[in-house]
Amino acid sequence: MSKVLVTGGTGYIGSHTVVELINEGFEVVIVDNLSNSNIEVLDGIEKITNIRPVFENIDCVDYVAMENFIEKHGGIDAIIHFAASKAVGESVEKPLLYYRNNLVSLINLLQLMPVHKIKHLVFSSSCTVYGQPEELPVTERAPIQPALSPYGNTKQISEEIIRDAIHSNPDCYRSIVLRYFNPIGAHASAEIGELPLGIPNNLLPFVTQTAIGIRKQLQVFGDDYNTPDGSCIRDYIHVVDLAKAHVVAVKRMLESKSKESYEIFNLGTGRGLSVLEIIKTFEQVNQVKVPYKIAGRREGDIEQVWADPTYANEVLGWKAEETVEDTLRSAWNWELNLARRNKN
Ligand code: UFG
Repeated sequence: MSKVLVTGGTGYIGSHTVVELINEGFEVVIVDNLSNSNIEVLDGIEKITNIRPVFENIDCVDYVAMENFIEKHGGIDAIIHFAASKAVGESVEKPLLYYRNNLVSLINLLQLMPVHKIKHLVFSSSCTVYGQPEELPVTERAPIQPALSPYGNTKQISEEIIRDAIHSNPDCYRSIVLRYFNPIGAHASAEIGELPLGIPNNLLPFVTQTAIGIRKQLQVFGDDYNTPDGSCIRDYIHVVDLAKAHVVAVKRMLESKSKESYEIFNLGTGRGLSVLEIIKTFEQVNQVKVPYKIAGRREGDIEQVWADPTYANEVLGWKAEETVEDTLRSAWNWELNLARRNKN
């Protein structure tokens, strides 16, 4: 049984990936500093899989703690590195925090990997590296644009750090960088899902919290963009589809399915949906109202971006399968389940 270290394994994408790894027979060990997640996520993972993975509350910025963890839980075959700060706005206010958290964590892992003979790394990157692409849908060959936020910059720099580390020491590393589009939804069991602390920044948690009455009204950030209905367009992908891609990536490396030591894949559906289309579809499939108003544009927003996932489909052998309807149903079921839990 191969062993995978998942950093940020109690987070939104991390927890769904842990479930998929366990389902596929991997042994999973998790580190997370719980800065943006909750220890109860482990209960959700256990309910779904009947397995409670090893967990330690560790900040990946802490080299010594990471080293001790890796020594204690020897035999790690691959690392999936999710642990990172991810709020675009906060990164503008606290750039050094973002550079420290996101870059030092990665550097620590890359330094520890050869020492402990861990060769394989899956890295969480983002379509933010493309900025506003000139051509849509966007392929992996599209040029990287200057980052619009320190957060986005940490993803660009991280990709370069990994590439340079591999270049300097090709026998010691192999990495797959996954550029996510917009993950939404929750596990079908509704035992795990997105759990933003405080007021959500992202669209879907704001939609579900408005639908259930936690928030009064959703603001649609702009209806005067150059898109069919004037609102921004994104490629919304079910988080479970995204999670499954990580399992495929780990297997690809462990089974040496490629000769390349560094590969990049877009993870999206290939389908662009506007903010207004998301709201409308959410209301229809869940039979619930989402009060909203049109507000001004949000600074730094990209007008429209969606993926060309052909490379991931053909080379990685992975495809997003879920419909947007099912995805939006899963998001709502998760919110309802949270409300039930909070009542008890
Ligand atoms: N939106 C609203 N109202 C809200 C929240 C969002 O209208 O209350 C709109 C945004 O303006 C945008 C769309 O919904 O048009 C999606 O916004 P999100 O904040 O959910 O997602 P983004 O595409 O802005 O950002 C996501 C990730 C970032 C990442 C970025 C690019 O959250 O971490 O994609 O990869 F950097």
